[in-house]
Amino acid sequence: MQVTLKVFRYNPEVDKRPHHSTYKLEAQPTDRVLDLLEYVKDHIDGTLSFRRSCAHGVCGSDAMRINGVNRLACKVLVQDIKAKTITVEPILGLAVLKDLIVDMEPFFEHYRSVMPYFVNDEPVADNIERHQTPEERARFDDTTKCILCAACTTSCPSFWVNGEYVGPAAIVNAHRFIFDSRDRAASERLRILNDQFGVYRCHTIFNCTIACPREIQVTQAIGEVKRAIVTGRLD
Ligand code: SF4
Ligand code: F3S
Ligand code: FES
Repeated sequence: MQVTLKVFRYNPEVDKRPHHSTYKLEAQPTDRVLDLLEYVKDHIDGTLSFRRSCAHGVCGSDAMRINGVNRLACKVLVQDIKAKTITVEPILGLAVLKDLIVDMEPFFEHYRSVMPYFVNDEPVADNIERHQTPEERARFDDTTKCILCAACTTSCPSFWVNGEYVGPAAIVNAHRFIFDSRDRAASERLRILNDQFGVYRCHTIFNCTIACPREIQVTQAIGEVKRAIVTGRLD
């Protein structure tokens, strides 16, 4: 089948403003959008720039807007796109460095701000593992699945309005530790997320949940963090 691929292009070193380039390609219905981009880069225009690594939905590096929706290019098949033209553009709310590559540093800065790591200085008896019941482990299972692709944060209108908002991805990663029964820094993370750019910037718009390629219940996780702040309880 023939497909029309329209790609956002911008090289700040030479372009006054962004434009789109259109390519007519032969493709299989089971090709992924990432395959189309790879074809253009390998055979038509080697300057096309985009991030990708695993090509299997694991590394989270190829989040982009595909026909207006945040997706991983390696997880979207040509046959799944009903429109005549496949339009590929960078995710919103982060500065474009070149073509489909955005500056992820503000995203990772928010991520780092919520202490996304295990905190517990208490000695472990007999040097064995810190025990946890299956129920305690299940409490935060959903939020362990995050691959930091930024599809959620860059689909959030609150983040578009104010990039200081810590964003859903950071809250998901805070949730993963806040509700871990072995961790001891929940109150510190809740304090961080209770500030003016924290969880209360979320107005329950749900774009984040729809965008998440790992099907994490992002809005629910944010709601649980809000409730923990209000009640002081972690149940
Ligand atoms: Fe990506 Fe989902 Fe993690 Fe957001 S919560 S960064 S959409 S994997
Ligand atoms: Fe934004 Fe998701 Fe909340 S889209 S407003 S973080 S529910
Ligand atoms: Fe790794 Fe798509 S290239 S998630």
